[in-house]
Amino acid sequence: MSQLIDGKTIARQIRKSIKEDVLALNMKHGLTPGLCVILVGDNPASQVYVRNKERACKEVGIHSSVIHMSERVTEKELLETIERLNQDDTIHGILVQLPLPDHINEDSVINAISAAKDVDGFHPINCGMLMTGQAQLEPCTPKGIIRLIEETGEDIAGKQAVVIGRSNIVGKPVALMLLQKHATVTIAHSRTKNLDKIAQSADILVVAIGKPGFIDSSFVKKGAVVIDVGTTRVNGSLKGDVIFEEVREKAGYITPVPGGVGPMTITMLMENTLIAAKRSL
Ligand code: GUN
Repeated sequence: MSQLIDGKTIARQIRKSIKEDVLALNMKHGLTPGLCVILVGDNPASQVYVRNKERACKEVGIHSSVIHMSERVTEKELLETIERLNQDDTIHGILVQLPLPDHINEDSVINAISAAKDVDGFHPINCGMLMTGQAQLEPCTPKGIIRLIEETGEDIAGKQAVVIGRSNIVGKPVALMLLQKHATVTIAHSRTKNLDKIAQSADILVVAIGKPGFIDSSFVKKGAVVIDVGTTRVNGSLKGDVIFEEVREKAGYITPVPGGVGPMTITMLMENTLIAAKRSL
């Protein structure tokens, strides 16, 4: 039976320390970190995420604002809003909630955010910094995943890590971060042949494919660290990519869904906003 990696508790402890840092920054420099989230349209899942981000900001003492724009907003209007926030000294982090409506080019929007305020870590400058080992603002979910793996006390250096999924938000950056920490990294994806064999070689298995229950124990090496990034809503409840009850019998450590990676993502967003505010001094 594996040990549970309790993201909820770990995230709460980190937020407590962020709250103290935010307070100290305020006392020492009179600066309150500020995060602005832009939400376009009425996607219910996005609305939930944005509400959770506001709640987390409140908990740690970060000033938060939300700009809610219509589904029909033009790309030009959105880019003008971003430019205004780039110039606003009270805002240290800008996050445009994805996905955006089809008529808006996501790359153009991400590229318009000042790299210094890109608390998502999606701007090509921040991606390049990550790639070359100079990261300042790292993407939140991968950053949270690394913290969870480190919490197990297992060394990452020298381990075989397999990342299933190659998105810009999770798969690619988490693979780079594991490489930076000296793991031997394989990135697998939907076209990978013999996925089960490759996954079985993993001491650290990160699954980010968005297919609920896709990974059963046949993909998992005994004693592996298994990180489930999947969060698909099925009949009103969140389901991971891993069949938890089965895989927990074989893995060494495993994250639950919900309560694993999810709470860490928002906590890392708070941390990135604090970092961006400190760097603005
Ligand atoms: N939509 C789903 N995940 C994310 C994320 O990490 N950042 C943003 N901006 N939008 C998202």
